[in-house]
Amino acid sequence: MIVKSSAEAIDRAAEALSKGLLVGMPTETVYGIAANALDQRAVRATFTLKGRPLDNPLIVHLGAVEDLASVASEVPSSAWLLAERFWPGPLTLVLPKRTEISNEVTAGLATVAVRVPSHPVALALLKAAHLPISAPSANTFMGLSPTRAQDISSEIEAGLAITLDGGPCSVGIESTVLDLSGSEPAILRPGLISQRQLAEALGVPVVTSDQRKAPGMYPKHYSPRTPVRLAAHLEPNDAGLTFLASTSENQIHMSGNPAEYAAKLFGALAELDKRNLTEIVVEIPPQTDEWVAVNDRLAKASRSRL
Ligand code: TXA
Ligand code: MG
Repeated sequence: MIVKSSAEAIDRAAEALSKGLLVGMPTETVYGIAANALDQRAVRATFTLKGRPLDNPLIVHLGAVEDLASVASEVPSSAWLLAERFWPGPLTLVLPKRTEISNEVTAGLATVAVRVPSHPVALALLKAAHLPISAPSANTFMGLSPTRAQDISSEIEAGLAITLDGGPCSVGIESTVLDLSGSEPAILRPGLISQRQLAEALGVPVVTSDQRKAPGMYPKHYSPRTPVRLAAHLEPNDAGLTFLASTSENQIHMSGNPAEYAAKLFGALAELDKRNLTEIVVEIPPQTDEWVAVNDRLAKASRSRL
């Protein structure tokens, strides 16, 4: 059941989490399937609901920066520095895990991925529940991440005790995942917070996942049901996303600003996916640094089904 977020709805959602139930939670990036990260049955139910392979670990969400030491066994100064700078916000840090964090959450890895989200509803839920909350994006495996409560599929909705509607997500693509457990900081998933921003904040080079393999990363992901094709330009009869003025109702005009584009991307694809089109054509954005995260999602959305 989707409920407009209110203090009362947040209390109900917190109670559901404490009973081991799953909750639809808005974050600034995408909607997530929230569970008590300390409850192995609830965590397992998250994987079942998504149809997600067990080797793809979940992100643990915290209500405050100080809570980091309660999930990570070692917190290097680089992690505190980035936490102070970017949290609450769309940055996930991978760190050695404490034993309290189960193998269910981390898919058997010795590390845990953790972030403090900035969406006020997510923060209020974390405070009300007094729990670390595991939350993958609220889509079925490989599907589009929902950025509006109404974009959560009925299959997923059916497994949630309550979904808090916190409005459209302002960032619109998933958090940047940065691995701080190795010898050098490595981006495992690009996001709004860029490689350059992270390298500048840390004062050391940050490598990307081309150089290091990330668990649970598949070439195909973030896909609507309708095939997606990338093209330099939309033809007048094409349905899809364009930087120019749209020439039909099946063309959605997208911003030339990468953050604005990202905020709208998954919602626009979800909208076109409802229209029984034969394909969705997406105009290729510039191949520059600030478009890396958007281009990553588009590349994965346009791969043919496995
Ligand atoms: O923006 C987000 O991060 C959203 C919202 C809900 O917070 N969550 C999200 O979760 O995107 P999910 O499960 O869809 O993607 C989490 C990814 C995994 O695919 C994996 O690549 C990485 O985070 N990850 C999680 N734990 C990890 C670990 N211990 N080591 C390396 N990567 C990890
Ligand atoms: Mg996901």
